[in-house]
Parts: sequence; C-alpha cells; structure tokens
Amino acid sequence: MRLGISIIWGEKVKVIAIINQKGGVGKTTTSVNLCHALAEAGKKVTAIDLDPQGHLAVSLGVRLQQQGGIDEAMLKEKNIRQQIIAVRNNLQLIPSGPKLKEIEQLTESRSPRGLLLKNALQGNLNDQDFVFIDCPPSAGLLIANALIATDEILIPMTSDFLALQGLSHLMGTVKRFEKSLQKKYKALLVMSRYAPTRRISSQVLSSLLAYFPGQVLATIIREAAVLAECPSFGKTILEYSPKSRSASDFRSLANDFLEGRVMHESK
Ligand SMILES: Nc1ncnc2c1ncn2[C@@H]1O[C@H](COP(=O)(O)OP(=O)(O)O)[C@@H](O)[C@H]1O
Ligand SMILES: [Mg+2]
Repeated sequence: MRLGISIIWGEKVKVIAIINQKGGVGKTTTSVNLCHALAEAGKKVTAIDLDPQGHLAVSLGVRLQQQGGIDEAMLKEKNIRQQIIAVRNNLQLIPSGPKLKEIEQLTESRSPRGLLLKNALQGNLNDQDFVFIDCPPSAGLLIANALIATDEILIPMTSDFLALQGLSHLMGTVKRFEKSLQKKYKALLVMSRYAPTRRISSQVLSSLLAYFPGQVLATIIREAAVLAECPSFGKTILEYSPKSRSASDFRSLANDFLEGRVMHESK
C-alpha cells in the first residue's frame, strides 16, 4: 500500500542545501539540530555531509574510519541508499567519505562534474520528507553540485560585519547559477550565533531584513556555550540539554521552517 502511494506521488522529498562559503557561521550546527528537531516533529529527514571535514557525523556521535559515504555515491561506486546510516528516530545520515576531497579537485575528464550529486540523488530517498545537505565552506565544485541538485537553500548568517560582506558574494554566486540553470532558488536565511549584547548584531540583523524581506526565518539562534559543547559529546542540543534556551530555539526554528514563518522589520 505504502509502495503504491509513493509511486503515485513520486518525488515529495524536498532537498535543501545549507550553504555559506564562510566557515564557522553555523552551517553544521544548524544542520544537526534543525534536522533532529524536524525528525522529533515526526518528519523523515536525511542529512548529507558534503564537507570533507566530516563534522556532521562527529556531531551526531558517529565515529567512522575511512568509511565511504556520499563520495562513493557521487562517483557511482555505490548507490546512495547503501550509504545510509540510521542515527536517530526518523533521522538518517549519509556521511562525507574520504574521496570527497578528490571530487572537489576533479578536472574535466569525469564530466559532467557538476551533476554528480544530482544524479546520485535522482529517484532515491523518495520515502523522505526532507534531505538537507551540509555544505563545505568553499565555492568550488562541491558547492556547484549542491546548487545544481537543489531548488532550496538555507543560509546561516552570523551577526557580524564580515559575514554580511561575505553574503553579498554568496548571493552573487547564487544569481550566477540561477542564470545559467534558468531556475530561481527559494532562499531562506537563519540568524545564527546571535550575540544580543553587541550593537553590531542588531545592525546586521536590520540590514538582513532590509535586503531579504520575508526570507529570514522568524527564530534567532543565539550564541550559547551549550551549542559549542554538544559536538564533543556526539549529541544534538535536544539530547545534550533538552530544556535549554538553545534547544527551544531549534524546536522553534523547525516550526518556522515547516510553517514558513519569517521575521519582519520592526518599524
Ligand atoms: N549559536 C551558537 N552558539 C555557540 N557556538 C556556536 C553556535 N553555532 C555554532 N557554534 C560553534 O561555532 C563553531 C562553528 O560552527 P559550525 O556549525 O561548525 O559552522 P560551519 O559549519 O558554518 O563552519 C563550532 O565550534 C560550533 O560548535
Ligand atoms: Mg560545517
């Protein structure tokens, strides 16, 4: 019966790239905790680690020794479904794998190089509600693969001036892909690592709301020591400190995401 339904409805799965070429803005933290919060809310979620550093697996408490993941699926050595690791209820991980670094360096021969991820995903993971791709902090071939494979992007942004500068560069890249692929991304932003006591924070937030009206998710993720502690225990914030403010930030962010709730500029 289930099988019949999934064949009729085909690709209900939404694929979202969590992207920002700047490192340390909270891409992996958002991936881990948003995915877990969505899974806890009953959604079927797959998190793909497209960063050769492999921090997503570590943050979820999965220790791997040179084990393949999305790298082998992109290189067509394995089917992507073989690379799935069940990590929590409703949440599965596809780790990065040691060959991901080589993929970033691929030159012309293995063409088309930009379609490796899209092809690996094609027709697979249709039993999922959401597939999130935790992107590396670069602007190379892996990012091109992520942008070609998705129609939706989620951009974590910190509340400092240089992050704002970097964002215009990222939006330039996104626009170039929109032009050459003739598609328009649904782009959402999440204010991450927000430090309310710094004046620059509210200035950056105002600029974001002015430049991206209706695109900044309603919940602000605040800077908090517990969020930095979680990865060393291999736990998400919902496990490490379920009653913390940060855990409720991420539960609320998951609801924003599901309900399309965004922040509005205060007058
Ligand atoms: N809201 C936050 N509060 C405190 N520390 C955070 C927060 N978000 C991320 N961090 C920490 O900042 C560092 C970089 O975050 P990370 O999510 O790995 O960024 P990225 O994936 O964009 O490089 C990590 O050590 C992480 O634990
Ligand atoms: Mg990361």
